[in-house]
Amino acid sequence: MATNEKTASGTSRPGTKQSETRNSVLDLIEQLDVGAAIPSERQLCHNLGVSRLTVRAALDDLVRDGMLVRRHGSGTFVSEPKIAQELTMTSFTEDMRRRGMVPGSRTLDLRVTPAGAHVGRLLHVSPSEPVVIISRVRLADHETMAIETLHVRAALVPGLSAADLESHSFYTLLSDRYGIDIVGGLQTIEPTVTNEEESELLGVPLHSPAFLFERVTRSESGEIVEFVHSIYRGDRYRLVTDLSAQPLPHRPALAAAGHNQRDGRDHPS
Ligand code: GLP
Repeated sequence: MATNEKTASGTSRPGTKQSETRNSVLDLIEQLDVGAAIPSERQLCHNLGVSRLTVRAALDDLVRDGMLVRRHGSGTFVSEPKIAQELTMTSFTEDMRRRGMVPGSRTLDLRVTPAGAHVGRLLHVSPSEPVVIISRVRLADHETMAIETLHVRAALVPGLSAADLESHSFYTLLSDRYGIDIVGGLQTIEPTVTNEEESELLGVPLHSPAFLFERVTRSESGEIVEFVHSIYRGDRYRLVTDLSAQPLPHRPALAAAGHNQRDGRDHPS
């Protein structure tokens, strides 16, 4: 059965006819299998007692959100559920395996070049330091999910080949072959849209919504290991964060962090 996840509230926009229609179609989607056709617009108007315009707007919304897919001339179908991506330190391979999916990787390019100023700064090395840059398409159950461009200091990974990264997880290779364990990092996430090349590689229309992830990770010794720039499909991913209540911080700590007591906001010190 299709298990398209909903927003935290389980609804879309506030109680308009369109949002009610959207919710009714979502209920219907939950009872159908992935790939099953939903009833025609005309049938839905009849069943739900709303106008064609309202049905079409609700369906457009669900197509945009990746719940439904339209196939020209044949109808509208239930999409694969999105992958709920938790914001953790895991590798792509580990993450897909945990979900019972088969991870895959296709290496598009591997080259060694001087880091340059920008990448050098991120990897904490001089601009002339040789860096391996690897572009990979990441797959789950043979479907393209993301494009990742990995930058790693060449001296850390002697002999690393394009083929290695098609048959092994990079994090596993780091640990098993190079004796480097990733212990932490920093990741930024921004919304973006796919350019021509990314659209072609991901098999999505030009300017499709996507997530831009950038991750810098460090090893046990505190050394920066990788800088990765990734484009993840917006129609296949949603980000999930567990919101646990935090104990109220102490005033002295807040003051030290540059907390302005008058307007209650944090300011960099
Ligand atoms: C995730 C991270 C990347 C990391 C990759 C390693 O996708 N965003 O920063 O390089 O995992 O994946 P794997 O070990 O499967 O090659």
